[in-house]
Amino acid sequence: MKTTRLFYKTAAVVLLLYVAVSPPLVSGDTGRRVNMTLVRGAAALGAFCLDGSLPAYHLDRGFGAGSDNWLLQFEGGGWCNDMASCVDRSKTHRGSTRFMTKTAVFTGILSNNASLNPDFYNWNRVRLRYCDGASFGGDRQISNGTSMLYFRGQRIWNAIILDLLPKGLAKANKALLTGCSAGGLSTFLHCDNFTSYLPKTANVKCMSDAGFFLDAIDVASNRTMRSFYTQLVSLQGVQKNLDPNCTRAFYPEPSLCFFPQYALRFIKTPMFILNSAYDVFQFHHGLVPPSADPTGRWNRCKVNVTACNPHQLDALQGFRTDMLGALMNFFRNTTRGGMFINSCFDHCQSALQETWLSPISPRIHNKTIAETVGDWYFGRGDDVKEIGCPYPCDKTCHNLIPASTTDSLAPNAPDHKSLGTQLSPFSLAFFLLYIFLCTMNIQLFGF
Ligand SMILES: *[C@@H]1O[C@H](CO)[C@@H](O)[C@H](O)[C@H]1NC(C)=O
Ligand SMILES: *[C@@H]1O[C@H](CO)[C@@H](O)[C@H](O)[C@H]1NC(C)=O
Ligand SMILES: *[C@@H]1O[C@H](CO)[C@@H](O)[C@H](O)[C@H]1NC(C)=O
Ligand SMILES: *[C@@H]1O[C@H](CO)[C@@H](O)[C@H](O)[C@H]1NC(C)=O
Ligand SMILES: *[C@@H]1O[C@H](CO)[C@@H](O)[C@H](O)[C@H]1NC(C)=O
Ligand SMILES: *[C@@H]1O[C@H](CO)[C@@H](O)[C@H](O)[C@H]1NC(C)=O
Ligand SMILES: *[C@@H]1O[C@H](CO)[C@@H](O)[C@H](O)[C@H]1NC(C)=O
Ligand SMILES: *[C@@H]1O[C@H](CO)[C@@H](O)[C@H](O)[C@H]1NC(C)=O
Ligand SMILES: *[C@@H]1O[C@H](CO)[C@@H](O)[C@H](O)[C@H]1NC(C)=O
Repeated sequence: MKTTRLFYKTAAVVLLLYVAVSPPLVSGDTGRRVNMTLVRGAAALGAFCLDGSLPAYHLDRGFGAGSDNWLLQFEGGGWCNDMASCVDRSKTHRGSTRFMTKTAVFTGILSNNASLNPDFYNWNRVRLRYCDGASFGGDRQISNGTSMLYFRGQRIWNAIILDLLPKGLAKANKALLTGCSAGGLSTFLHCDNFTSYLPKTANVKCMSDAGFFLDAIDVASNRTMRSFYTQLVSLQGVQKNLDPNCTRAFYPEPSLCFFPQYALRFIKTPMFILNSAYDVFQFHHGLVPPSADPTGRWNRCKVNVTACNPHQLDALQGFRTDMLGALMNFFRNTTRGGMFINSCFDHCQSALQETWLSPISPRIHNKTIAETVGDWYFGRGDDVKEIGCPYPCDKTCHNLIPASTTDSLAPNAPDHKSLGTQLSPFSLAFFLLYIFLCTMNIQLFGF
């Protein structure tokens, strides 16, 4: 059994590599490659990646009218909530700059091409590499006797900002803090702190992509995400970095403030929330985590929504209803906020050109994500709070394939792309293999 598992895992890894290098659906502009900058000053601040390596970012300079504007994007990539998973992570590109690719491809909201990214292309654009495992929120270190594990996400955030301030961020005219997945969660956590570093006259806003992780009840009636985050907050020393007004309000369960739905009303900076109401990562880890489906009844539905039975569709619609419910006050009250809650089975839509702005990108009321976010940022028009109609009515979805192909909350996806969002012969092959593995109830990359 062990060897067959190993075989399937190896086969899956090979196919994953094919997926990672296969050409995107919308070809042409492949995006600019931007070099990594290690944050040399981080050591003095005690800001290290899990393994003790220096943190890093990628900066592509703005030009022309955008020279004084700054867009910072947190990289995503799951979390680690116990010593074993954090030790594993510290040996990968998710926990160490030593193992990261030294260039990043800038596409979607990071693109420098005006026709692909009309509102932000000439801004200074920065990708903050993620190597702490707690959405840049922890502050602790633990020795196991022989080696040290650094949970210093909060210090990494601080060190990167201090490094960028003298490079022009301190004089920013306009600024946008964003990020996807675990990075979308970081956006909520650090939004007001970002504002505090910038000139009072600057126009500062935050946009979270696929970061609205719900305090969901899974299909086995457990709060899997809540248990996971509670362990994470406790292990990595996150609590003292959460908004004190929020933790006070949620005493005696202050770790709930790690959930955007509880922290949201304490955030003063204007926010935009971009999320699918059927976010694939949350579907696979919050609504139907492997622990809630030991017999694999959901396996086919998880990778192909047309294979879901009516009962499963009900659960998915319930998840959407819960998400909209959690956003209702924001939708009603906020005058400066924006949202784009669509119904594609997807995860992360601003960093991929296909979903951000392309002939096939998702739309609500015929507006793309790039248009809606731009309209909100620049105050053009009033239609900046968009909610799409429920599945299956949205005809603009072309990515009905899992973005998350792991059975762990700490995905080890390749650096630049969220998996499975591109239909190519290779991804199809991978997809079929994935279904096969699921039917065999084999945990792909499960730790
Ligand atoms: C990026 O790094 C490579 C290799 O170190 C170097 O050749 C290249 O000039 C760098 N590019 C920029 C824009 O700094
Ligand atoms: C910008 O993107 C468009 C559309 O993909 C492409 O035709 C054009 O060549 C790109 N421009 C640059 C400077 O790369
Ligand atoms: C401590 O961590 C290191 C590196 O992760 C590992 O190799 C070692 O076995 C661990 N030691 C103990 C006592 O757990
Ligand atoms: C922002 O966070 C840093 C630590 O990362 C802290 O030193 C600073 O006081 C914070 N600013 C505000 C206004 O909370
Ligand atoms: C989920 O809940 C059931 C009871 O509803 C319980 O027996 C089971 O241990 C829980 N599983 C996990 C992983 O928490
Ligand atoms: C907490 O709330 C008070 C009152 O609304 C406000 O003045 C203060 O700035 C808030 N503190 C933080 C850290 O947001
Ligand atoms: C998804 O499931 C439907 C119905 O079970 C099937 O017709 C379709 O071929 C499946 N799609 C893929 C890509 O496997
Ligand atoms: C938002 O709306 C809710 C309920 O309608 C209300 O309780 C809350 O005070 C409002 N918040 C703000 C900031 O206006
Ligand atoms: C949708 O928008 C596109 C331009 O983005 C336009 O060409 C098209 O006519 C619009 N469709 C409808 C139905 O309004």
